[in-house]
Amino acid sequence: MPRAFVRRALLSALWIREMEILEIIQRRQSCRTYNGLRLDKATIAALEEEIKALPRLFEDVAVPDIRVVAHEDADGRLGTYGFITGARQFLVMASGKSQAEQVQAGFMFEALILKATEMNLSTCWLGGTFRRGPFAEAFGHMGQGREISIVSPIGHPTPRRRFAERLMRRVVKADRRKPFARLFQGAPQDSPVGMALEAVRLAPSSSNSQPWRCVVSGREGCGEEVVRFSCAGSGRFSAIDMGIAYCHFLLASRRKGLDWEIAPSSSGMPALEFRCI
Ligand SMILES: Cc1cc2nc3c(=O)[nH]c(=O)nc-3n(C[C@H](O)[C@H](O)[C@H](O)COP(=O)(O)O)c2cc1C
Repeated sequence: MPRAFVRRALLSALWIREMEILEIIQRRQSCRTYNGLRLDKATIAALEEEIKALPRLFEDVAVPDIRVVAHEDADGRLGTYGFITGARQFLVMASGKSQAEQVQAGFMFEALILKATEMNLSTCWLGGTFRRGPFAEAFGHMGQGREISIVSPIGHPTPRRRFAERLMRRVVKADRRKPFARLFQGAPQDSPVGMALEAVRLAPSSSNSQPWRCVVSGREGCGEEVVRFSCAGSGRFSAIDMGIAYCHFLLASRRKGLDWEIAPSSSGMPALEFRCI
C-alpha cells in the first residue's frame, strides 16, 4: 500500500444540502448536446467556489487542479471530435499519473459533477474524445508531471438529444447497468450498505465498463462490516472509474448514516477496502 493513504475518508456530512444525494445520482446522465448558451458569471463563480471546497478521498495524495474554461478563451478551438455540440464552457482537470492520484482525481471530479447536477447543470465525462493540445493551452500552467486527464462540458441541454448522441448511448449501452448481484456480494440490495452499492451501480464509467466489484463481510451495523472493492478492468481509466465509485459509495453511505475508514489492509491501488466505524 502506498504510504500516502490516510485511514479515514474525509467527507463533510453537509456537503450536498439541497437535495438527496441518491436523487442526484439517479438524475445525473451524460449530456452531449448543449443549447449553445454561455453560463452566467454568477454560476461560474459558484462553480469555482465549489471546486475549492471539494471533498477528497485521501488526505495526503496530491489533489487535481480543476478549472472552468470558456470556449472563447481558446478562440473556439476546444474540439471534441463532434461528440459534444453547443457547449460554451468546460470543466478541465489536470492531474498526476500515479494510481493514487488518479483515484483521488476520479473521486473529486465526480463530486463536482454531482454538485453541478444539483445546480441543474448538465455534464459529460470525457477522457478520450477531446483535443488535448487546445485544452492544455487554454488551461495554462499545470505543474510538473501533470497532464489534462479529463474534461467535461458544462451547461444546459437542448430539449431533444441529437441522433448521434442517441446512437452513441446505444453503442456503449449507456442505459444498461450490470445486475446488482453480478457486481456485489454479501449485502442485500435493500440494506443500508446495499443502497450505497446501488449508488455505485449508477456511477458513470469509461465506455460504461462498470469495472467495480465488491464483497461485503462481517455483521451489519455492529462496527465489523468490511467492504472489499476490486477492479475488474485494467484500462486507461480504471483508477479514475474506481475513484468515481468511491465517491458514490461514501456520499450515499453518509446519507444512510454509515461511516467508513480505508483499511490499511487494502490490497493495492486502485482497489480499496473500507471498514465500518
Ligand atoms: C473516465 C471516463 C471517461 C469517459 N470518456 C468518454 C469519452 O471520451 N467520450 C464520451 O463520449 N464519453 C465518455 N465517458 C462517458 C461514458 O461513456 C458514460 O459515463 C457511460 O456510457 C454511462 O452513461 P451515463 O454517464 O449517461 O450514465 C467517459 C466516462 C468516464 C467515467
